[in-house]
Amino acid sequence: MRTERARTLRVLLPRARIARRVRELGRQITRDFRGERVLLVGVLKGACIFLADLSREIGLDASFDFLAAGSYGQSNETSGQVRLLKDLDTSIEGRNVILVEDILDTGVTLNYLVRLLRERHPKALRVAALLDKADRRVQPFEADYVGFRIPNHFVVGYGLDYAERYRNLRDICVVRMRKGGVKHKAG
Ligand code: IMP
Ligand code: MG
Repeated sequence: MRTERARTLRVLLPRARIARRVRELGRQITRDFRGERVLLVGVLKGACIFLADLSREIGLDASFDFLAAGSYGQSNETSGQVRLLKDLDTSIEGRNVILVEDILDTGVTLNYLVRLLRERHPKALRVAALLDKADRRVQPFEADYVGFRIPNHFVVGYGLDYAERYRNLRDICVVRMRKGGVKHKAG
């Protein structure tokens, strides 16, 4: 009998849970920066949906900017060498910057980006990561705002991709290989 290995998705974090947690993070940021303006800096492309939702839970005068970072090489794994693919459009000197990232994995990307942005003398620099896979860290890094700590699974949806697919799923799902057909309950 011939069996086929297909990619299947299992819901890890359903949309309602994500929405609740994003609301809490927004309230926390609103409290922490009361009376101040903030600049939300999204790391393209994965953080765009998180940033869109988080920003609407923040009751402050907020602006957006975006940057893109990539690792050298082709794989999904961070190689340890990060480069800036797109820089900010605006100066961050003297501003309250919240760097918004989809997932904190090895820590290499955020260590690089925080070092880069600190050199530009923001008034405050905080990091909001929707997901944190702490077991995967190769460089120590702690985010100021974390949505969910998750085990070491490869996840997609809510902005996160596998080879540029699945970013538009409403739920965060674990990707795994499975014998048989595709089971897809998300989205
Ligand atoms: P780090 O430098 O290893 O912390 O890499 C973080 C980046 O790796 C994220 O911005 C994602 O683009 C990617 N990444 C890490 N884990 C996952 C995952 O489970 N799903 C999708 N992308 C991931
Ligand atoms: Mg990313």
